[in-house]
Amino acid sequence: MSDTLTIVDHPLVQHKLSLMREQTTSTASFRRLLREISLLLAYEVTRDLPLTTRRIETPLCEMDAPVIEGKKLALISILRAGNGLLDGILELIPAARVGFVGLYRDEETLKPVQYYNKLPTQMGERIAIVVDPMLATGNSSAAAIDLVKKAGATDIRFLCLLAAPEGVRRMAEAHPDVPVITAALDERLNEKGYIVPGLGDAGDRMYGTK
Ligand code: URA
Repeated sequence: MSDTLTIVDHPLVQHKLSLMREQTTSTASFRRLLREISLLLAYEVTRDLPLTTRRIETPLCEMDAPVIEGKKLALISILRAGNGLLDGILELIPAARVGFVGLYRDEETLKPVQYYNKLPTQMGERIAIVVDPMLATGNSSAAAIDLVKKAGATDIRFLCLLAAPEGVRRMAEAHPDVPVITAALDERLNEKGYIVPGLGDAGDRMYGTK
């Protein structure tokens, strides 16, 4: 579909995602599964981070041990559902800086309107990973990435749990330089903008709201 799209088809990811999709899955289980999947997705989204070596001493000898090169990471969560992915990734990358972007949809224009934007400093020197579980229309994801680019970032990845073809196309048009990593590419959007078959409203399922 798009050369910048990666689908993480690992059996553990697919199994946990199926459990999350089921409507009978409780809020507590949904949250736990999202945290577990986010660890596995974090593994994929960081797989090309540049390595360098550091001279260390093991109990037996010295060696040049591989360590991640100095480029700093920024995790950018699109509120509010992005926080579910963010929490798990932060467990793996505790030193990452964190930013938040809040957007709502104007009911008349259907365009995303920004209500919050707090990004780490020195974005131009960081690898930015923008996270939101659901890539639906792609409008808010593309707008969030606009803000991240405006702050100076040039190395950006977008991580989600589920993507709709419409969202993937929108991202490829708006930000062809931004790779999209997802656990699944679903069939379509319905008339209300929900991903089908999807998992419902990710924020509601994560926080037990309606
Ligand atoms: N946001 C959600 O939480 N779910 C969808 O299906 C689409 C957008």
